[in-house]
Amino acid sequence: MTDAVKKLHIKTYGCQMNVYDSERMAEAMGAKGYALTDDPAEADMVLLNTCHIREKAAEKVYSDLGRLRPLKDAKPDLKIGVAGCVAQAEGEEIMRRMPLVDLVVGSQAYHHLPKMVEAVERGERPVDIEFPVEDKFEHLPERPMAARPTAFLTVQEGCDKFCAFCVVPYTRGAEVSRPVERILGEAQKLVAKGVKEITLLGQNVNGYHGAGPEGVWGLGRLVRALAEIPGLERIRYTTSHPNDMTDDLIAAHGEEPKLMPYLHLPVQSGSDRILKLMNRKHTAEAYLRLVERIRAARPDILLSSDFISGFPGETEQDHRDTLALIAAVGYGSAFSFKYSPRPGTPAADRSGVDAETADRRLQELQALISRQQHATQEAMVGREVSVLFEKPGRLPGQWIGKSDYLHSVFVAAEGPRQGDLVRVRITSSAQNSLAGELL
Ligand code: 5AD
Ligand code: SF4
Repeated sequence: MTDAVKKLHIKTYGCQMNVYDSERMAEAMGAKGYALTDDPAEADMVLLNTCHIREKAAEKVYSDLGRLRPLKDAKPDLKIGVAGCVAQAEGEEIMRRMPLVDLVVGSQAYHHLPKMVEAVERGERPVDIEFPVEDKFEHLPERPMAARPTAFLTVQEGCDKFCAFCVVPYTRGAEVSRPVERILGEAQKLVAKGVKEITLLGQNVNGYHGAGPEGVWGLGRLVRALAEIPGLERIRYTTSHPNDMTDDLIAAHGEEPKLMPYLHLPVQSGSDRILKLMNRKHTAEAYLRLVERIRAARPDILLSSDFISGFPGETEQDHRDTLALIAAVGYGSAFSFKYSPRPGTPAADRSGVDAETADRRLQELQALISRQQHATQEAMVGREVSVLFEKPGRLPGQWIGKSDYLHSVFVAAEGPRQGDLVRVRITSSAQNSLAGELL
C-alpha cells in the first residue's frame, strides 16, 4: 500500500445480521487500505448499514445523511455510502434525494464494495442492488484476528415466509443457506482465534437447509456438528420461526450441552384471527404446544419473542388474546413494536388501528413483558450459572459477561479475564442485568 491508511466509519442500524455484514464489509475495505474509526469526523469514507424493518429506522437514514452534509462540505473527498436494506429497497430514491451519497450497495452485493469505491474514485455514483447468483460471503476476504470471545456467523439469509407486515422477503430475498463445510470452516477459524461462543444468524435461521455431506442438513444437525469443535463452548442461534422448529432441533436443546438455554421464538400475536391476517400460518395454540415440547426437552430454557401491537384489524379482544398468550408462556424477555406500514407489503394498504390505541396496547404489552423479565431475573438470584467474560465493567476489578441464559452479569474479578468462562453465583438482579460472585 503506497498511500497512508485511510479511515472508514461504519454506522450499523437494526439487526445482528447487519452487525455481521458490517464486519465483513470492514474486512473487505481493510484489504483496500481502510482502517476503522469510531469518529465520522476523521473518516475518509462513511458507510451507513441501514435497516428497513420499520418506518422510523428507514427515515433515520435520511436524517443521518443530512447530518453528514457539513462533513462533506468541509472535506469534498469524503465518500458516503449507503448499504443494507434501505439501500436495497430505495437505492435509486436515495441517489435522487441525497446528492451527497456516492454509492448505494444492496444487502447481497457487499463483495462488490471495493470495486464500487474504485468507481467512486473515477467520479461515478454506482448503485448495485442486484441479487447476484454468487454468494457474497464466499467472495469477501477471510475474517482477520478477532480479539474477542463471541462472534456472529451468518448461516442463512432471506425469508420465504411473507408475513403480511414484513419487508424482509423483499429486501433480503428468498431463503438461501450457506453450505455446511463453509460454516464449519469459518467456525473453526473463529475458534482458532479465541472465539468461544458463536451465534448462528439467519432471518429464518431454523429454516436452515444447507448442502452438506450426505445431502441437505437442518439446523439441528449443524448445531451438533459445530458442538464437536474443541474449544467452541457455546452455541446460540437467532431468529427462528415457530413452524420451522423441527423435532431434531428441539431434541438438540435437550441433548447438546453447548446449545445455550435461550431461544428467541417470535409469535407476533396471540390472536388466531390476527395471526391469520398476518399470514403467520400457525395458531396461538400450536405455538403454546410447541413451547411445551421445547420445555420438555430443556426445562430451564428461557424464551423470548417479538410482538406487534396495532396490526390492521386488531380489536381489543385480539389484544387481550396476546396478553393472555404472554401470560401463559412466561417470557424471559421480549420485544414489542407498534405496527409500522411498510411499502410493498400486503398489509401496507389496510387501514390500521389509531395511533393512540396502538400506543396504549404497546404499553400494556411492555408492562407485562417487563414484569415477566423482572420475575425471571429475580428467580436467578442464588443460582449458579456459567458466565463468559466479554469486557471490563466501569468499576475497577469488575467484568461483564453473559450467562448461559443471555443475561448480562457483573462480577468482581481481578486481572485480564476476557474470554474466561467461569462459574458464578447470582447475588442480585437490577433493571437489565444481574450481579454475581465467582465460585
Ligand atoms: N411493523 C412493526 N414491527 C415489525 N416487525 C417486522 N415488520 C414490522 C412492521 N412492519 C417486527 C416483527 C419482527 C421484528 C424483527 O420486527 O416483530 O419479528
Ligand atoms: Fe419477516 Fe420473520 Fe415473517 Fe420472514 S418470518 S416475513 S423475516 S417476520
